[in-house]
Amino acid sequence: MKLTCAQRRFNLPRPDNPLSPRVHAMRSVQPLPTERIGLLLLLIISYLVVSYAQQQKPLLASTLQPSLSLRHIYHHSSSTGKYPNMFRRMDYSGIQALQIADNLGKPYTFSVKQNLGRRYRPASPLPYLMRAAQTPRQMHYAMGIHNMEIDYGLLPDVADSDTVLSLAEMTNNAYSDPDTREDWYDLGTKWNVTSSFGWESDGLRGHVFGDPDNTTFVLSFKGTSAGLWTGGPTGEKDKFNDNLLFSCCCARVSRAWRTVCDCFVGNTYQCNQTCLETSLLDEETYYSLAMKVYIELADQYPDATIWLSGHSLGGSVASLVGQTFGVPTVTFEIPGERLASRRFHLPAPPAINWDDIPLWHFGHTADPLFVGVCTGPSSTCWYGGFAMETRCHTGKVCVWDVVNEKGWRVDIRSHRIHDVIENILKKPEEFPIPECKQELECVDCALWDYPDDRDPPSTISTSCSTIPEIPDPTEDPWKRKKYRQ
Ligand SMILES: *[C@@H]1O[C@H](CO)[C@@H](O)[C@H](O)[C@H]1NC(C)=O
Ligand SMILES: *[C@@H]1O[C@H](CO)[C@@H](O)[C@H](O)[C@H]1NC(C)=O
Ligand SMILES: *[C@@H]1O[C@H](CO)[C@@H](O)[C@H](O)[C@H]1NC(C)=O
Repeated sequence: MKLTCAQRRFNLPRPDNPLSPRVHAMRSVQPLPTERIGLLLLLIISYLVVSYAQQQKPLLASTLQPSLSLRHIYHHSSSTGKYPNMFRRMDYSGIQALQIADNLGKPYTFSVKQNLGRRYRPASPLPYLMRAAQTPRQMHYAMGIHNMEIDYGLLPDVADSDTVLSLAEMTNNAYSDPDTREDWYDLGTKWNVTSSFGWESDGLRGHVFGDPDNTTFVLSFKGTSAGLWTGGPTGEKDKFNDNLLFSCCCARVSRAWRTVCDCFVGNTYQCNQTCLETSLLDEETYYSLAMKVYIELADQYPDATIWLSGHSLGGSVASLVGQTFGVPTVTFEIPGERLASRRFHLPAPPAINWDDIPLWHFGHTADPLFVGVCTGPSSTCWYGGFAMETRCHTGKVCVWDVVNEKGWRVDIRSHRIHDVIENILKKPEEFPIPECKQELECVDCALWDYPDDRDPPSTISTSCSTIPEIPDPTEDPWKRKKYRQ
């Protein structure tokens, strides 16, 4: 069934309505007895909130345990892809989802436990402006990103290993190209493209899992750069994005590399901060595409609880979107996205406490991408043309130290979500859920110096004479088609 614009509602609260849409709807629509019950519940919840707000514990465990299955797949092409800005949605009935799961030999439903807790959300989104926005800068402007207010909502129970396993399974790449159906529903511009051939390798996909009652949804992002790890297709756009988001300075790894922006100063480790932020905020990135997918889903189910998830680069994008909209997010094996979050000016300490926001990153120490050691001329990332130089994460990290405790070797193959699921998450007795905590004392790109034109001149460091020049590799890794083991 197609939605008309008139049927759509935006689910974030207006500035004049501090109550969440769910509470608002309950109060205004239901008949009197239900209203009383609702009010009583509200009072109980308020009491619990006030009494437990200081403790970082779940406020209330819900007895509801929604069972989610594949409901939609969104695809948003980039503006430079074969089909520029194509934005589509494929809907799945329960039977179709069951058939796909069956064919792939994958589970069909994913059960998640939830509890009530604190979160942040933007105080004043302006949906119309946001829909029209193309770049992160326009998005941020449209939603007044700096005004976040505290809110309470249902969060995934990340202390429960079955819930974490379910979330990981939902990010599994096996769902990427489930079949060859052609009945995509165009959101926005109509595209008379009946075959998906040729555009799988461009853009961003969001897989939506939901329960039959439409109360709870998990949106899992997948960037196509997953191809780097699986041997599948990888677009230049992916490398551009990743190198912009996860490198110290425009992927200026060496003079032989093609850089993604011109912000480095001279031949030393200096990078123009103003230039860097301008390039990032004014470019279309997977982050901006992912925000559109989230807005679309939140619009379709205005009263639902939505969580974000993702593995690897898809997880980083999920995290950035989660921080932007205050959406609970659980990621797996993502590269350090703290630097990207800073460059986008997303809410960060000291303005907010990362212990307060529902943002969890699961990973293990044998994954070079997660711990930030997939760098240098001998690494897989280098061979693939990826400058993954960051290692610090936002929110809380939940780390299985398999290197020290189990003697695992650091190996890029352990990055795959399939391996994490089979070797860690499915063995909860051997690998219990680790403690989740902030990464304090973590520093990214320590060698680099970021002079900012907006700083007073005295703070611009010029003491770089002792730092050696960046060595050149023997060839340009961008020219390679596939990564080699
Ligand atoms: C779409 O393309 C098909 C074949 O390429 C053509 O037969 C059909 O008329 C087109 N439909 C529209 C609405 O343009
Ligand atoms: C859930 O949403 C779908 C649209 O995706 C709709 O067809 C269905 O009727 C909804 N179910 C309930 C119980 O509201
Ligand atoms: C830094 O970048 C900004 C914006 O691109 C530019 O105006 C400025 O001149 C640059 N500063 C230096 C020192 O290169």
